[in-house]
Amino acid sequence: MSRFEGKVAIVTGGAQGIGAAIVRRLASEGAAVAVVDLTAERAQPVVDEVVKDGGRALALGADVSRTEDAQAAVAAAVTEFGRIDILVNNAGITRDNLLFKMTDEDWDSVIAVNLRSAFIMSREAQKHFVAQKYGKIVSLSSRSALGNRGQANYSASKAGVMGLTATLAIELGPFGVNVNAVAPGYISTAMTDATARRVGLDPDEMRRLASEQTPVRRVGEPEDIAAVVAFLAADESSFVSGQTIQVNGGADR
Ligand code: NAI
Repeated sequence: MSRFEGKVAIVTGGAQGIGAAIVRRLASEGAAVAVVDLTAERAQPVVDEVVKDGGRALALGADVSRTEDAQAAVAAAVTEFGRIDILVNNAGITRDNLLFKMTDEDWDSVIAVNLRSAFIMSREAQKHFVAQKYGKIVSLSSRSALGNRGQANYSASKAGVMGLTATLAIELGPFGVNVNAVAPGYISTAMTDATARRVGLDPDEMRRLASEQTPVRRVGEPEDIAAVVAFLAADESSFVSGQTIQVNGGADR
């Protein structure tokens, strides 16, 4: 399948976990992918993998919560590949704490990386999308947007992504731009392993417990999310916009 032949994608936080799976998926279907992460060195191994498999990719270092970095990343992708068609706002962090222990820094950093970056990157990308009357924006929300103990900052940032998505869909739809989000449940990555350790559980034990609470009786893998992101980035979903799709094996929490 070559749904993305001739298309150029930018994936933030693409060095590992869900972002890396999205990079592999888009590249395997023909997209040239700019892999943006905190440093180009972190992004390079995924880029090497893609290139080894015959694809096209570029490693870019940027803190996407910073305006100048985001602008430079989009500009570098356009310089290298000539255009951009798809933006995946995937970079995200957690700084979990109960409210009474949550610091200003815990709050500000999570809002900046998870929400501000999606705003800045989308604003930067839309210049190209609107001019060419074509674009796809897919952002990572989370099941936690509906509330999760110890995650006031993260939950607010991911609910913010849902609102941003709904609004950008209204503003950009007339210009041929689709804007959607994916809200994963428990996905097995470094992020959820760190969460397990923080609450004193072995990551395998945490996955087992999460599987038991999930109707399909397993936790998600990064590829489960990449498949839905690819659907939303492809032309077959061009009548879907402003949506946040829950991808959680039927789990209600
Ligand atoms: P991860 O922690 O494994 O990977 C996140 C990547 O983002 C890392 O490569 C990191 O270096 C990069 N990153 C962090 N801050 C950045 C910044 N300021 N600029 C550029 N890159 C930055 O996380 P994971 O699990 O792959 O999550 C990816 C996305 O999916 C995040 O937005 C996360 O909130 C979301 N998500 C994950 C879930 C899970 O169960 N793993 C569930 C729901 C949502």
